[in-house]
Amino acid sequence: MKINIVKNIDELSLLAARKIIERVRKQPTTVLGLATGSTPLGTYYKLVQDYRDNKTSYKHVTTFNLDEYVGLTSADQNSYNYYMREHLFKSININPNQTFLPNGVGIDPAIECDKYEAKISESGGIDLQILGLGENGHIGFNEPGTSFSSRTHVVSLAESTREANSRYFNSLSDVPTKAITMGIETIMEAREVLLLVSGERKAKVLREVLEGTITEKVPATVLRNHSNITIIADEAAVKCLTKHCQISS
Ligand code: PGA
Repeated sequence: MKINIVKNIDELSLLAARKIIERVRKQPTTVLGLATGSTPLGTYYKLVQDYRDNKTSYKHVTTFNLDEYVGLTSADQNSYNYYMREHLFKSININPNQTFLPNGVGIDPAIECDKYEAKISESGGIDLQILGLGENGHIGFNEPGTSFSSRTHVVSLAESTREANSRYFNSLSDVPTKAITMGIETIMEAREVLLLVSGERKAKVLREVLEGTITEKVPATVLRNHSNITIIADEAAVKCLTKHCQISS
C-alpha cells in the first residue's frame, strides 16, 4: 500500500489526474472504474484541462462507474449518469457507448446488477479503479455491514449517506432510498485501486481504514487486502493518523 500525502484537494486532484493520464497514455484501451461525489471533481477537471492542452486520447478507453441511484433517469441532474457527462464525458473524446453506469431505471434492478457484472467481465475487468471514501467507511454504496464477498447489488442507503448527499437535492426526502452499487468483491478485483481522501471530515474514518481492524463494519478496511492500492490523502485527512501510518510504504 502506498500513501501519498499532499497539501490540499488541488494537489490531490493534480496527482490523481497525472496517474490516470499516465495510465491511459501507456495503455490506450484502459478500463477505468470511476467514482462520483465531491472528491474526484477536481481530478476530472484536470483530466479535461489536460485533454484540451495535450490531447490525451480516451477514444479506446472504457469506463464503469461504481454506482447509480435507483429511480433517477440519466436526464436527472442528481443522477450519476448526468454527473459523469457534465464533469467529464462531454469534454473528452470518449465514446459514450463505452461509458457504463448501473441502470437505475430498469424494470428489475436485480437483473441490471447481473448485466453490469457481465459487462465488466466482457470488458476484461477493471484496470484502474478510482474510489472515494464515505464518512461511514463506505466504498461505492457498500454501506457498513456489506459482505466482503458481495457483487454488484441493490442497496438501501444508510440514513447518514442520504443526509450527506442531501446537499445536492432540494430536500432529504428527494434523496433516493436505493441504489445499485458494484460489490466489494467486484471492486477488489480491479487490478489497481486509487483511493482519494480529502478533508477533515474524513480524518477519523481514514484512521480506522488504515489502523483499525479489517471488518465489514468499515467496508473500506478491506482495501488493506488489495495488492496494488495507492491512497492519495490531503493533510486535513491524515490528521488523526499515527506517525507510523503517515510513512509511505
Ligand atoms: P465525497 O463522497 O467525495 O462527496 O466526500 C465520497 C463517498 O461518499 O464515497
